[in-house]
Amino acid sequence: MSEPQLVASVLPADFANLGRDVEAIENAGIDRIQWDVMDGSFVPNITFGPDVIAANRDRVSIGFEAHLMVHNPDPMLSRWVDAGCEIIIVHAEAYLHLHRTLSRIRDLGARAGVALNPATPLAAVVDILDITDLLLVMTVNPGFGGQRYLSSMASKIATARAEIDRLATDIELEVDGGIGPSTIAHAAAAGASVFCAGSALFDGAGSMSERTAALRVAASERLVPQ
Ligand code: DX5
Repeated sequence: MSEPQLVASVLPADFANLGRDVEAIENAGIDRIQWDVMDGSFVPNITFGPDVIAANRDRVSIGFEAHLMVHNPDPMLSRWVDAGCEIIIVHAEAYLHLHRTLSRIRDLGARAGVALNPATPLAAVVDILDITDLLLVMTVNPGFGGQRYLSSMASKIATARAEIDRLATDIELEVDGGIGPSTIAHAAAAGASVFCAGSALFDGAGSMSERTAALRVAASERLVPQ
């Protein structure tokens, strides 16, 4: 991947006007939307289910990824796919049988993503990268937007980049949490190629289009060739 991919988290969106905000995200030039699914157990916060995602599917044409910050994701996997998500991201910490879960996601015709909380080492997933399409390195502790970027995750990002390149796979390496104008270059230089931002897209100087363009430029300047 030679160009950075920008993903918008909907967490800061106006939940009373989600359709309007997902259209604004697409119009701003974002590549994909992340639906931050939270169950109040795996993370303290609670957000939305597949019906909310489905209600917004036809408002835009860009891709949807479901970031499942939930315990035991297996029973609902098909619902997120049916809602229109092309990528389903589960947490390595959320369930016992991660290999089976990723396999099931692929069997449903979606791409399989696995997320690592800041305290979870890359070693937790190195043995299942052969059935992984996207690796999400959390740069905050999940559950809320607007948190400070954890620059200490750079070594995990770099190690993940090296392993992906060693395996010569096209696994997407995404970062999520505190990504903005002052942090995206750091994450890019460490090896990330997909950048999920919430607050930095919805808030700040200028328009969402201008903020999106600025993030893309900042990431491009430091993107590690893959
Ligand atoms: C945190 C979510 C992130 C978060 C990103 O649990 O998974 O996607 O909303 O928001 P910012 O960019 O504000 O940190």
